[in-house]
Amino acid sequence: MFDRLFGFFSTDMAIDLGTANTLVYVDGKGVVLNEPSVVAIATVNNKTDVVAVGNEAKQMLGKTPGHIRAIRPLRDGVIADFEVAEEMIKYFIRRIHNNRLFSASPRIVICVPYGATAVERRAIQESAEEAGAREVYLIEEPMAAAIGAGLPITEPQGSIVVDIGGGTTEVAVISLGGIVYASSIRVGGDKMDEEIATYIRKNFNLLIGEATAERIKKEIGSAITLQNSKDVKLTIKGRSLIDGNPKDMEVTQKHVAEALMDPVSAIAEGVKDALERTPPELVADIIDSGITLTGGGALLANLDTVISHITGVFVKVAENPLNCVVLGTGRALAETKKNGSVLLKNY
Ligand SMILES: Nc1ncnc2c1ncn2[C@@H]1O[C@H](COP(=O)(O)OP(=O)(O)O)[C@@H](O)[C@H]1O
Ligand SMILES: [Mg+2]
Repeated sequence: MFDRLFGFFSTDMAIDLGTANTLVYVDGKGVVLNEPSVVAIATVNNKTDVVAVGNEAKQMLGKTPGHIRAIRPLRDGVIADFEVAEEMIKYFIRRIHNNRLFSASPRIVICVPYGATAVERRAIQESAEEAGAREVYLIEEPMAAAIGAGLPITEPQGSIVVDIGGGTTEVAVISLGGIVYASSIRVGGDKMDEEIATYIRKNFNLLIGEATAERIKKEIGSAITLQNSKDVKLTIKGRSLIDGNPKDMEVTQKHVAEALMDPVSAIAEGVKDALERTPPELVADIIDSGITLTGGGALLANLDTVISHITGVFVKVAENPLNCVVLGTGRALAETKKNGSVLLKNY
């Protein structure tokens, strides 16, 4: 009875705490927040203060004066900086509260990386509690990704989902509502950006920042060199290593594909490795149903083709790959009663 009363006043919230982006989904309202997982911090006289969070903080990456640092607390898929991660979680939850989407303390489910330790899970849960959650549940990222991509996770049938985020790529084989095999490799969109910056520095003596490298990847990136890829070009700005002056340069898709060779093959090999460790009956299912890609990295042009070529299994990119995890997290919460086993509680 009380629960029904509470349920009437409060709205449930699903949070995808990603290494690159944090998304929040509210039932009936959709995705209400989608911002970079970045926090800008100022240190004055040994005292630290949060200056900005999300979009505003990301714009500061690589442009901060000495006393301000822009931090990505989850960068490599684990919590690199606990305090900052907690500040970020609280900030995002409170912002939605203040938008008056809630009239009572919400139930919150947060998606955590498969590799997160018990200490990290507890820290995430406590941050949400401090931000005013009535109940906090956790769900493992590959499970959320699979639900969000619409895979038949509760069936006695093997499915494989590959979530390519900023810091990590998580591969999971799921059957009967459980994770049969999962692995996490520390290669994702960030590594691709780094490789693009390194390639441009080594081959063209031009220094570019993280943000420029990411823009190149999104606009003309490709996992393989295509016949006509010389024609696809982008003009970028950087600093010449020869004379230190600002300089314009034209990059082609062929350059980017060359730069991305290592991270792309690491991801494809990671998927191949997971298939080799999957029980044969489930592999048989996967051959029929294919490999599903989620996460922002799934948007890299032709990555599906490369993974398919290396594994010999067909690959499909989920609809709206950047939103799969948060939508799957939201759906899991909505179905808690039926589907309790996929949610984790109390660390
Ligand atoms: N069109 C695109 N092509 C290639 N990579 C992309 C594209 N759009 C986004 N990305 C990359 O996806 C990554 C973010 O994906 P996301 O799933 O939000 O990561 P996380 O879950 O780790 O926060 C970033 O590295 C970003 O550069
Ligand atoms: Mg993610």
